[in-house]
Amino acid sequence: GELKAWDGAVDTVRSPVCLRAADGRLQQIELGSVPSGAEKEAEEALKAAVDAYDGGRGRWPTMTVAERIACLQDFTRRMIDCRQEVVNLIMWEIGKPKADSEKEFERTVDYIRATLTALKELDNSNSRFMIVEGTIGQIRRTPLGVVLCMGPYNYPLNETFATLIPALVMGNTVVFKPPRFGALLFYPLLEAFLNSFPRGVINMVYGRGSVVVPRLLDTGQLNVLALIGSSKVADHLKKLHPKTNRLRAILGLDAKNAAIILPDADLELAVRECLIGSLTFNGQRCTALKMLIVHQSIVEPFLRRFSEEVAKLKVGMPWEAGVNITPLPEAGKTDHMTALVEDAKAKGARVVNQDGGSVAGTLFYPAVVYPVEDGMRLYREEQFGPVVPVMPFEDLEMALEYVTTSEHGQQVSIFGSSPDQIGQLVDPLVNQVCRVNINCQCQRGPDVFPFTGRKDSAEGTLSVTDALRSFSIRSMVATKETEANKS
Ligand code: G3H
Repeated sequence: GELKAWDGAVDTVRSPVCLRAADGRLQQIELGSVPSGAEKEAEEALKAAVDAYDGGRGRWPTMTVAERIACLQDFTRRMIDCRQEVVNLIMWEIGKPKADSEKEFERTVDYIRATLTALKELDNSNSRFMIVEGTIGQIRRTPLGVVLCMGPYNYPLNETFATLIPALVMGNTVVFKPPRFGALLFYPLLEAFLNSFPRGVINMVYGRGSVVVPRLLDTGQLNVLALIGSSKVADHLKKLHPKTNRLRAILGLDAKNAAIILPDADLELAVRECLIGSLTFNGQRCTALKMLIVHQSIVEPFLRRFSEEVAKLKVGMPWEAGVNITPLPEAGKTDHMTALVEDAKAKGARVVNQDGGSVAGTLFYPAVVYPVEDGMRLYREEQFGPVVPVMPFEDLEMALEYVTTSEHGQQVSIFGSSPDQIGQLVDPLVNQVCRVNINCQCQRGPDVFPFTGRKDSAEGTLSVTDALRSFSIRSMVATKETEANKS
């Protein structure tokens, strides 16, 4: 409800970008600091959200949809005024290439606008009267209560807003915790939140997630956990709510999306799409291709062409034009990537591209690893980084088996020319994952399409319209038809 200076303990926020110090050592640039140990403030933020919701009687949940839309429109105008600052912070905090940081901002603004348009349509179709067997019902979409929103570091703005915006506009009140990498970029937006929404409707909390978030869940006052992040964290958090079955969860989680490249695939197209699919933003996308399954008859030319294209990727700093591979934000991430590659090498695989797996500070040169087999960590573990495992397959059954036996179920890509063969794969696969991509990479957008997954990969659905449904419930006001109200 108000902005005030923080005089408690802080955590330093470092950029993945390094400087070489006088003694020759690399040091990550310090960008600023965020409050740590802010548990008391987090509890106050939750109380503010609970009070503003007030059991559904608060000003926000009882406002008309048009009034809430007006607040969101006002916020969007103010947010656009902060564009440059937010884009720069995305770039510096997570090392996302500048052009992609700009795209993230624009995509988020578009997402808000699309949400408001979709809401107007949903509201028209959902606030209507129905008369059935003598009962008149007015069906409404109503809020769920108090929502905790948390987004991941790879899309800190966009994927925080992917739950926060629909939650808000449906009349819920919100507490949100920015990701550890990508926390500073919300500072420029604080005044916009403050000026566009009634007090207590939206509340940002800081502090270490492992300390703050359990305390919020423990109160039992949260109605919805909206998290885009890791499956392990989601499982852990859900259990902390004293009435787990009362906590609705809307989750976008781990994935290990595969591309199946059939013998008659257009090789150049497959190489191009698999390159973007596996290495955009260093492979740090939940939708990234994290296993390439290539028919044994074409695996050699595929590896050669793929490696040639990987060699052309520009490795550098996020502000450089045309850069593809940039510094990794998480401490120890390059070690983690190295460990995955070394494990595969120790078990018989090799890095097929020149310089693959080299490390320079926080930069990791993409490694194409072949042949990856069951028993190697890369076979099942989600690498979430610039390592591309490749495995050969003999028959379709073997490729299908990989997807069917996975714990994850987000997406798959198929590359091939024969409609018959692709058709044979599509039906079984679309029952295993939630999006089958034909001759193109896996991806979330355009955002009007459903974004979800099966098994350990998601709970609930997040397209523009599905998200509005996910953060609301259909309620109704009913009465009996009488002679008087018939007219
Ligand atoms: O990290 C997961 C994101 O949802 C990926 O989104 O496919 O648009 O890059 P994207």
